[in-house]
Amino acid sequence: MGALACVVLAAGEGTRMKSEVPKPLHAICGRPMIDHVLRTLDELEPERMAIVVGVGADKVCSVAGDRAAACEQAEQLGTGHATQCALPALEGFEGDVLITYADIPLVTTETLQALVDHHRSSGAAATVLTTEVADPTGYGRIVRDSADAVSAIVEHRDASPEQLAIREINTGIYVFQAQALRGALQQITPDNDQGELYLTDAVEILVAYGRPVTATVAADPAEVMGINNRVQLAEAEKIARDRIREEMMLAGVTLIDPPSTFIDADVTIGRDTVIGPGCHLLGETTVGSGCEIRGHVTLRSATIGDGVLLRDHTVIEESAVGDRSQVGPFSLVRGNSTVGRGCKVGSSAEMNRSRLGDGSKMQHFSYTGDTTVGEDVNIGAGAITCNYDGIDKHHTEIEDGAFVGSDVILIAPITVGKGAYTAAGSVLTKDVPPGALAIERGDQRTIEDWAERMEKRRRKNEEA
Ligand code: UD1
Ligand code: CA
Repeated sequence: MGALACVVLAAGEGTRMKSEVPKPLHAICGRPMIDHVLRTLDELEPERMAIVVGVGADKVCSVAGDRAAACEQAEQLGTGHATQCALPALEGFEGDVLITYADIPLVTTETLQALVDHHRSSGAAATVLTTEVADPTGYGRIVRDSADAVSAIVEHRDASPEQLAIREINTGIYVFQAQALRGALQQITPDNDQGELYLTDAVEILVAYGRPVTATVAADPAEVMGINNRVQLAEAEKIARDRIREEMMLAGVTLIDPPSTFIDADVTIGRDTVIGPGCHLLGETTVGSGCEIRGHVTLRSATIGDGVLLRDHTVIEESAVGDRSQVGPFSLVRGNSTVGRGCKVGSSAEMNRSRLGDGSKMQHFSYTGDTTVGEDVNIGAGAITCNYDGIDKHHTEIEDGAFVGSDVILIAPITVGKGAYTAAGSVLTKDVPPGALAIERGDQRTIEDWAERMEKRRRKNEEA
């Protein structure tokens, strides 16, 4: 098997996106389009990879990283010119060159491999990936000769009425023998309606030199669709989401209502995890096995262990929840917080930049901010840390085995020592030593027969 090089054209302006963001960086399932393309190409194990950048080059290159050699196309003079700009990265390369765009994010490794295989087995100088569409408006048309061989690609704006009727279109993905590509690129001219250098003209040039050009027809046009505007971006997103959901289900994840479950491309989920309706699993989220994620939970770059129960409407952002813990309903864990193993975070509780040790409980309506909680601690309902004094944030330490009563307010910086108790309703500003009880509240007054006295007053008022 010969060597393969890949070239990704990504320099265009993407005018129809109407965006300040370069088109290759628009996301599908949380991942920039260019990243989808580079990952797919990586699976072909190419010897070289080049990306042609122009508009927004710095930003595009920062996502591409060292996966591809960046070739600058300072002025967008057409796809042929863009490919010429990639030639320095192909210096001395003698194998096959696969060319594709940054804005064809859904194409699969299987389809590309089939294209490369067909190209090699047919011995063609070039092979075009084509597809048949109901409405070919705007696409280059595949012109075939009487023997059904590809003879040219004619752009929509340059096509004759008969050619406009052709429904087989150019996807923009090709494989060329490196030598044939270099030769043809020397001969293309801007002799067309747009005055650009068209890569598509390379086909006609090779045919004129008697070099065979073939085509592979992609069965599913949706897979090879290019994204030019946000309507197409949303269509691609839908297809990509369906693929992810299917992949997850086939890998052993139960989705109660697949259409309402949104899972980004960088999410992993373990077996036998059950995900309820309306959940969003976004960013680089990892969920372990045997978890129960009830309705309308949002996980954004979250790490969830095994056997975790997340009740309805819980949000975990950039935070972790350990094995067998329970969170929610209606709770928020954010800001790099960590819930240990076997913990319980009750309803409407919030954690921010805080750590909850193994076996600890934070009950309903409680809040910890900038707090380190040890193991087997109980934080009562409505207890909160006051971590912010209006200017600075301060730390709270609650040591192993401590018991924080309901509605306690801990004014940071403060430490509640190992095994200490704090009485319900106390507002505490001073450290509590290990094993102590801190209580801060007025003594209770009880007035006997109060209700009777009230009743008398009411009657007196009525008589007056
Ligand atoms: C191109 C094809 C057309 C095909 C269609 C499929 C040509 C002449 N036409 O048309 O046959 O049906 O794609 O979508 O090739 N780019 C650069 N530099 C440039 C121009 C473009 O890098 O100077 C990149 C763009 O970023 C984009 C890709 O090439 O990723 C395609 O460019 P675009 O202008 O969208 O090509 P079309 O006119 O749609
Ligand atoms: Ca296009």
